[in-house]
Amino acid sequence: MNISEHRETILNDIEVKYDAIGQKTDTHLEGLLYAKPITYWDYIQTDALLSLQTQRTTLPDEMVFIMYHQVNELIFKMILWEMQQICYCENIQTKFFAERLSRVTRYFDMLTTSFSIMEEGMEVEQYMKFRNTLTPASGFQSAQYRLIEFTSTDLINLVDNRFRAKIDRNTPYENAFEHLYWQAAGKDYSTGKKSYLLEEFEKKYKGSFLRHMEEYNTINIYQKFKQLPIDDQKNPELVAAMRHFDHTVNITWVMQHLNVAIKYIDHSGKGDGEATGGSDWKKYMHPKYQRRIFFPDLWSEEELANWGL
Ligand code: HEM
Repeated sequence: MNISEHRETILNDIEVKYDAIGQKTDTHLEGLLYAKPITYWDYIQTDALLSLQTQRTTLPDEMVFIMYHQVNELIFKMILWEMQQICYCENIQTKFFAERLSRVTRYFDMLTTSFSIMEEGMEVEQYMKFRNTLTPASGFQSAQYRLIEFTSTDLINLVDNRFRAKIDRNTPYENAFEHLYWQAAGKDYSTGKKSYLLEEFEKKYKGSFLRHMEEYNTINIYQKFKQLPIDDQKNPELVAAMRHFDHTVNITWVMQHLNVAIKYIDHSGKGDGEATGGSDWKKYMHPKYQRRIFFPDLWSEEELANWGL
């Protein structure tokens, strides 16, 4: 038999691969004979993906709401995927860091501009009806959104601004968790009582959040940046990418989101002005109160003072 040089190299490489795991190459080659050729729908799992849109009402715009949230969750997953590659990269180079962070920011930019789908893409009348069947669920309960935050920065930067000065940076994870800025959406600090929204969220995710907080304590994006040589920390492209990311996630997206909430819940003149999750949302959601800033060292005193204004 006349085997081309190229094919022989491939066969040798395959042999090496299977030898290394104690498998017979011939068996695997024969298996190829009966393997089903791949199709687009099998590979992308289109049928499974498109079977996940289940309405709770008869209102057509509820479908827009469900699917747009699902798109967000998929994009959140892509964001976390990119972030993990930065966080787990040893001897990270600034070029790689900046490029990967720009990928993440591009996703967030897209989520920000596409928020008009929530603002203009649904009828207020329909939204105000189907939201009642969603109560007390809220986007607040998106676990991936929280994972993105834990992966981005040190916990102290996610602690409620009112307690930040009093909390030791090395406080146990459990204590930091109890003081995270988003506790304010459902916790009465004077009594410690939590809302149903928050209680349910914690019941499901607190364990995995605490594990994630610990895992990323020394490898989150801000830590990776601070571990770079000082010269690299001044790299203009990297600094621009870090600032852009911080600004998009913590101001631009947040403001888009808040404007949508204002349009539906406050200005529509319909409903009781309350959020489905039941938070004191107008106070809670504005970046000037949350003061969530992932990379505080990369902003001037003035920029920090005017955050979200
Ligand atoms: C009509 C559209 C929307 C409205 C009116 C709205 C409203 C709200 C309100 C009022 C809150 C405060 C918590 C509460 O529910 O009491 C909230 C939180 C949140 N929502 Fe939305 N939302 C909308 C769309 C979305 C979308 C598309 C996402 C994407 C996943 C999302 C993600 C979130 C997140 C992550 C939070 C927590 C934010 C934080 O803690 O600062 N929301 N939303």
